[in-house]
Amino acid sequence: MRDLKRASTGVEGLDLLLKGGFPENRVIVVSGAPGAGKTTLGVQFLRAGARNGEAGAYLSILEDPRIVIQDQTVYDPEIPLLYKERKLLFIDAGPLTWGEIIDIGKGDETDESKQPVSPLNLIKRISPLIDEFKIRRLVIDSAMSLRYDYDEGVARKELNRFIRTLKSLNCTTVLLSELTDPTAYAPEHFAAHGVIFMHHFMHDRKMVRAIQIVKMRGTRHDNQLHPLEFSNVGLEVNEGGLILE
Ligand SMILES: Nc1ncnc2c1ncn2[C@@H]1O[C@H](COP(=O)(O)OP(=O)(O)O)[C@@H](O)[C@H]1O
Ligand SMILES: [Mg+2]
Repeated sequence: MRDLKRASTGVEGLDLLLKGGFPENRVIVVSGAPGAGKTTLGVQFLRAGARNGEAGAYLSILEDPRIVIQDQTVYDPEIPLLYKERKLLFIDAGPLTWGEIIDIGKGDETDESKQPVSPLNLIKRISPLIDEFKIRRLVIDSAMSLRYDYDEGVARKELNRFIRTLKSLNCTTVLLSELTDPTAYAPEHFAAHGVIFMHHFMHDRKMVRAIQIVKMRGTRHDNQLHPLEFSNVGLEVNEGGLILE
């Protein structure tokens, strides 16, 4: 089996479970409940790239990117520097503008920029930035915010089209997605090349954090639940440890 090129996730234990990292140029959905660690994992993935000469961008649709920068700088004091050097971009993909933060709605004064973010106009706006800053890694927060303005059937179709188009951008893309019901799959789970679940649940009367690779096309991988923890530098995965033995 010929191996695909890999992009380190920035989390050593997760790289080990994935036999090297995310397959390059693929679209990976990372799903979890609020507070599961999606944003932290996404930024950690971008940090790893930025330090390795691969520019990355975090597209925040609902959250003010300044808050994300503030929160994540706790784990890596160099984030503002990486941002200044344009190796790690934070993009406000919502309808408002934020001064210094590159806002892909800004400069586009047509009415389109004031409309709710649609999956395809997001791609239209991000494409020139990918070329300009040579972006190789993308994190999009989140799939649900792209679904808000559609009814169920249209949302599924739009999201499928969105993921198909993401696949053609020549970036390794992490699409964050809110997992409201861990037993129910969302449209993005079917369309993506890979799916990772971040769990946070009660086990033996204690709250437990765990990570699980549910699917990853083109590679062998582990599929069990492994312990996940917050450390001083972000997230850590104990690839040797198992939950629910
Ligand atoms: N050092 C830490 N120790 C334990 N829990 C933490 C720590 N740092 C953050 N958290 C938890 O993780 C959450 C933030 O993670 P985040 O990556 O933003 O999750 P998500 O994007 O899935 O909502 C916080 O709300 C908090 O519950
Ligand atoms: Mg988040």
